[in-house]
Amino acid sequence: MTDRDKFKSKIGVILATAGAAVGLGNIWRFPVETGQNGGAAYIIIYICFILLVGIPVMLAEFVLGRHTYSNPIAAFRQLAPRTPWVWVGRLGVFSGLLILSYYSVVAGWTIEYSYLAITNAFDGGTPQDYKDVYNSFVSEPILPIIYLVMILLATHFVIVRGIRKGIEKFSMVMMPMLLVMLLVLVVCSVTLSGAGEGLEYLLKPDFSKITNKTVINAMGQSFFSLSLGLGALCTYASYFDENTRLVKSAFTIGLLDTCVAILSGFIIFPSMFHVGHHVNSSDIGPSLLFVTLPNVFHEAFDEIPLLGYLFPVVFYLLLVVASITSTISMLEIVVTYISEEYKVRRSRASLFVTFISVVIAVFCSLSFGVLKNFTIFGMTIFELLDNMVSNLFLPIGGMFFSIFVGWKMKKQLVVAELTNHGNLSMRFVSVIIFILRYIAPIAIILIIFNQLDIISLLS
Ligand code: TRP
Repeated sequence: MTDRDKFKSKIGVILATAGAAVGLGNIWRFPVETGQNGGAAYIIIYICFILLVGIPVMLAEFVLGRHTYSNPIAAFRQLAPRTPWVWVGRLGVFSGLLILSYYSVVAGWTIEYSYLAITNAFDGGTPQDYKDVYNSFVSEPILPIIYLVMILLATHFVIVRGIRKGIEKFSMVMMPMLLVMLLVLVVCSVTLSGAGEGLEYLLKPDFSKITNKTVINAMGQSFFSLSLGLGALCTYASYFDENTRLVKSAFTIGLLDTCVAILSGFIIFPSMFHVGHHVNSSDIGPSLLFVTLPNVFHEAFDEIPLLGYLFPVVFYLLLVVASITSTISMLEIVVTYISEEYKVRRSRASLFVTFISVVIAVFCSLSFGVLKNFTIFGMTIFELLDNMVSNLFLPIGGMFFSIFVGWKMKKQLVVAELTNHGNLSMRFVSVIIFILRYIAPIAIILIIFNQLDIISLLS
């Protein structure tokens, strides 16, 4: 393992890991959930979960990865030889492959929408037009597949260049760009007339909308958004060096991820209220990004045509960049595993995984069109994978990561990692271990029961 690549700089560690975290989950899923669940009240609960569960579980992955300097499967094998713990690693790698495949379908759509924005195709449409464009595009057999292949190939080319020259370099360029684009869009959106109402909606808590289900949704969302549960961050941490401050990095990444999510709300809601869209209607649903927003963007800046043109261009490019920094983390888990376990070159491993992923992704993509009626448990292939992975495999994986680091790993090893062998303050250490032992596993079991609808069955 001595020739393992490493991240070069502290800022590289933060930007690469934050890149894995910031993705469609922040810019799309978070505003949708906030819109459906009581605005700021939801945000407050979400932030509590980031602090109480998300960051500690992230630390569990960091501790395991940096302590063993290996992929999750080898890490479990090294610390708990000949036990079923390796299956947690295997579940993670397998989920990584699946999530990569269906995520790249939607990531591919963002390329088409960037193209539509660049060619000014949103100009002059009616709401029905936007809906038709979306429906006919996603159900087309060829074009979405070309785009998902583009996403997967781009991801592949970053991965083959390695950690330092690939992932780190790419993130060092893309993440600052992403943050600048985000801030520019926020400024444009909050200065629209009527934006105040949107901001008020986002910032004024309405606790009457909060139910058990909302609380548990917030927890699931915090998990997905921080990329927890399948060992992606464990893999990244295996490329940290002994001086990386795990606790500080986890807080910084959690903060960045949450800011991007909330700022995406600052882009979306003010422009929606500006054009008089009502939140909570069907506009805030999965089609938000591709049906509602083109419509909103088109109307919002009708007095300033240049902005009306540039705003969607920047917005969809932002989505492309955010998606690719995330797909990189998904491919990396699988590639690290294959190249280390089977001793093959990274480039070979990556080509192989990319190929398998294209095959799965093609089926996911077709499940919006010709395979729409092919359902398993009442879900299309895409829906099945999304539900299985994000609602079940991620929380299960996260729970085992926290149980492993909380209970099974020797406490002095965990403390040594969290404090860089006694060189950093012990301030949060006992709280973190307490959370990993008790709070995180219980909270996560609740998420899983909720996903399986066991809670509603019981009541
Ligand atoms: N966090 C990313 C997002 O918000 C998605 C993601 C990337 C992810 N890597 C992951 C989710 C690993 C779970 C596990 O879009």
